[in-house]
Amino acid sequence: MALVSTDIKEAAKWLRAGEVVAIPTETVYGLAANALDVNAVKKVYEVKKRPQSNPLIIHIPGVHALSRYAKEVPVPLRKLADAFWPGPLTLLLEKNDIVPDATTSGSSRVAVRVPDHPLTISLLQELDFPLAAPSANPFGYISPTKPEHVISQLGDRIPMVLDGGPCTKGIESTIVGMENGKVCIYRMGMVTEEAIQKVIGQETEVLYASHSKPVAPGMLPWHYAPHTPLYLFDEIDDLPKELSPESIAVIAFTRSVPGFPHQVILSEKGSLEEAANRLYDVLIETDKAGLERIYCQRFPDQGLGKSLNERLGKAAGKK
Ligand code: TXA
Ligand code: MG
Repeated sequence: MALVSTDIKEAAKWLRAGEVVAIPTETVYGLAANALDVNAVKKVYEVKKRPQSNPLIIHIPGVHALSRYAKEVPVPLRKLADAFWPGPLTLLLEKNDIVPDATTSGSSRVAVRVPDHPLTISLLQELDFPLAAPSANPFGYISPTKPEHVISQLGDRIPMVLDGGPCTKGIESTIVGMENGKVCIYRMGMVTEEAIQKVIGQETEVLYASHSKPVAPGMLPWHYAPHTPLYLFDEIDDLPKELSPESIAVIAFTRSVPGFPHQVILSEKGSLEEAANRLYDVLIETDKAGLERIYCQRFPDQGLGKSLNERLGKAAGKK
């Protein structure tokens, strides 16, 4: 079983030896390896059972390191990096040759971010290579937001989990790049469209990448799914009357639902940030109960609520 420890030197030792280590970030835990070492990157795909066609995000210690890995950075994206790094924003940029094709699945673009977690920033400063890290879940399952989630999902396949405690944000980064002079959102996440528009100004348009022609494989119609079939509902009245309430888990946003013994409220005060912070943990815990179905309430469809609904749509899309 993997060692769970806060020891950065130990994590650096494994990573320098070409091994895979789970690392904390503010969004979710990542499954990290030397992004410049083809064999180490291959191990990430093996551990995660992820198709090699799905590229990895590289994590760097600060904006100063960007020019080593990416070619010129378009002005709107530079503004976004300055505004949100360290933080839950990933930029898609033309890569330098130093980044191997294995890391980007053959694409000429590399996804880069500066994570906002003190342990991982210290680790990145200690290393002379960036860390390629997808979320530390087996392909298709819910992303881990606590060290114990990584241990139960992948603990027997990696030597170490760097223990940074629970993630402070709770859903993945927003992925952004440029298409024909416009800023394009490839994956919604913690940074909202409104916040992006505010930073780049009204003169640059923001658009969403098309789902019919996925650029980021994270745009596949299902992903992030629990094993228990997941259904979504809007109003409490929409819950099924024909099923026994004992066989269902209900995950509600702000208010409890009378008559259902298994239920969790994500944020009594109606905070989308708090709901985002708890959603994956609650889904993972609820999934363990082995009930017949999980019903999760949709969020108000704006700002962070939009990103959360997008994740739920994918999680419910698997069944
Ligand atoms: O918050 C996050 O972004 C977390 C933490 C660990 O940093 N990482 C994460 O990685 O969510 P992952 O691999 O689970 O999702 C990254 C997404 C995938 O959908 C992948 O297809 C897309 O980013 N991606 C990565 N590199 C890309 C590239 N060069 N071109 C297009 N899409 C890319
Ligand atoms: Mg993922």
